[in-house]
Amino acid sequence: MTRTTEHLTAAIESDERLDRPAYDLANATSLALQPTGSAAQPIQNALHGTWLGHPLHPALATLPVGGWTLAVAIDTAGVLGVTRDPRTTARAADIALSAGVVGAVAAAATGLADMRQIHGRDRRTGLVHAALNSTALALNVTSLVLRRRGRRGAGRALSGMGWMTMMAGAYLGGHLVYRRRIGVDQADRSPEPRAFTPVLAFSALQEDRPRRVEVWDAAARAHVGIVLVRHRGRVHAMGSRCSHMGGPLDEGWVQDGGLVCPWHGSRYCLASGRVLDGPSRAPQPRYDVRVRHGQIEICRVQEPGDEALTPADLRDAADDAAQVTARTLPSGARKADVVLFEHHQLLRRLFEKVEEMAPDDPERRDMMRLLAEELEIHEHVEDEIFYPAVRPVSEDVPVAHAEHQQLADMLAVTLRLGPSTPEFETQLRALHQAVDHHATSEEQSMFKEAQRLGDVRLRQMGAEIEAMLDHERESRARKAFRDLKIRLLEGPRS
Ligand code: FES
Ligand SMILES: [Fe+2]
Ligand SMILES: [Fe+2]
Repeated sequence: MTRTTEHLTAAIESDERLDRPAYDLANATSLALQPTGSAAQPIQNALHGTWLGHPLHPALATLPVGGWTLAVAIDTAGVLGVTRDPRTTARAADIALSAGVVGAVAAAATGLADMRQIHGRDRRTGLVHAALNSTALALNVTSLVLRRRGRRGAGRALSGMGWMTMMAGAYLGGHLVYRRRIGVDQADRSPEPRAFTPVLAFSALQEDRPRRVEVWDAAARAHVGIVLVRHRGRVHAMGSRCSHMGGPLDEGWVQDGGLVCPWHGSRYCLASGRVLDGPSRAPQPRYDVRVRHGQIEICRVQEPGDEALTPADLRDAADDAAQVTARTLPSGARKADVVLFEHHQLLRRLFEKVEEMAPDDPERRDMMRLLAEELEIHEHVEDEIFYPAVRPVSEDVPVAHAEHQQLADMLAVTLRLGPSTPEFETQLRALHQAVDHHATSEEQSMFKEAQRLGDVRLRQMGAEIEAMLDHERESRARKAFRDLKIRLLEGPRS
């Protein structure tokens, strides 16, 4: 199925015969808007969803998808005799169908507006997407007419066909968004730089001549482009990659207090990064700017919900650490990273042991259970103690949590396989590699960043971790729970 749909989509994307009608359709939309003069821009802003901050087309497309699916479901229930009153059933189906038709017309208007800004293979897909959805709309309108004339059976058949056509159109719409990234925010939202960083000599920036500079984002291992604009004596800075489709804002121009993207004309407020004119909907990343010793310095303005580490966050973390006095510290306590590294080594050795054992060794399953237990305990102490504590100083925590989830899923699959099967060997190797990757990246990045918490805090945390490791291994109740879980995962085979 996947291969067939992918082949069909690829055939559409590479069919040059679609270029002419696709161009004509996009051009017809432009021609319809041009005579409205200065009203054209507000109309386009409304259709694109610039006012909403999100694309309007996918939101409206949910109306025909929902309405027409509901109509087909009600029709089916009526035909199967599940509903009691045929008149009410017919009326409910008609209402759902009509609501879908209204939504489809609105979705078509917004979709046509968006289509003007896509090109090449995406415009070809857009054309077929539009054709399928227009066919679905025509089928459903005809269905409504037939139903009103009392030809309900034919009406049902047509809306059934309309539903299938709509789903084919929706598939292509999904392809455009999720595979081709049409309509998603394409700005670079790196949180760097978190502290004021010099990027250019003030004298090198001319009035109303945008200029691109770069900063390094160590976590993303990438350079981040920023556009500087000097306007009426003030310097402004925003992300240089346009949030609409990634156009180069540093090649744009200044107009009415905004920076215009050269690709499709989106205009962003110089002071706030807000979208003044679409097709873009998402604001540009913003930076605070100051001039010191003849140098322009910038600092990223964090966005709501950012889990960002600013110098202030780091100071807070250091203050917290200072509050932990040596009095609360057990003598000889080891640092958390040392304790966890040692546990990583234990896990690595356990993997090697299971791998070395003969497939039919009766003790292999017990060794695998021990490995599963230790891995579970390890993830538990990190989730409970280590990760929350290092969150203020390390950006790796969300990824590490995701990897724990992935390791738990892989462990569940491994436990379900008999230790003497070839599948077990393959799965065990994959799990070993995944654990090794996870542990190594913790050691190379998170453990190093954790040093910023200070020696005292790390030793206190190390003592907590060792206590929890002992408790997890010794507590009867915890052990019984883990055993039960592992046996359930192993399935009836054991
Ligand atoms: S890329 Fe489309 S307006 Fe910038
Ligand atoms: Fe971990
Ligand atoms: Fe770990």
